Amino acid sequence: MEQTFIMIKPDGVQRGFIGEIISRFEKKGFSLKGLKLVKVDRPFAEKHYADLSAKPFFNGLVEYIISDPVVAMVWEGKNVVATGRKIIGATNPAESAPGTIRGDLAVEVGRNVIHGSDSVESARKEIALWFPEGIISWQSSLNQWIY
Ligand code: TYD
Repeated sequence: MEQTFIMIKPDGVQRGFIGEIISRFEKKGFSLKGLKLVKVDRPFAEKHYADLSAKPFFNGLVEYIISDPVVAMVWEGKNVVATGRKIIGATNPAESAPGTIRGDLAVEVGRNVIHGSDSVESARKEIALWFPEGIISWQSSLNQWIY
């Protein structure tokens, strides 16, 4: 079954959106497979966002991610990478549709509350980076009603 890496960014944690965000993924029918509150250092954040290192917003982005704790999660389910991105909404909250997490909870691209892997391959890399200890293997008994 497909997995994705989801991170509640420092603003999402500070503003009290952990429960709200977990709830949206749970209600959709995805399964939580990994969860931790972590404060990452600069080299780690730079590794996570390595693909964006040439962008003008890179330093500000890294500063923001390392400023306070984030919630790192692994979610599992059918098409969870693409559907997770739909639940999250467009990168710039000014363009995220109402009903999406960013569309409902954010206004500024540099404070957009949540990260979600953009492909199955990125998800694999991000899960390996954020959960080197591995994740627990379990199946929800509700799956028979969802899949
Ligand atoms: P990106 O990977 O393009 O978007 P997404 O998070 O939707 O996959 O960019 C990573 C983060 O960088 C994005 O969530 C917010 C930040 N960012 C800016 O601060 N300014 C920008 O102009 C862009 C494109 C992104």
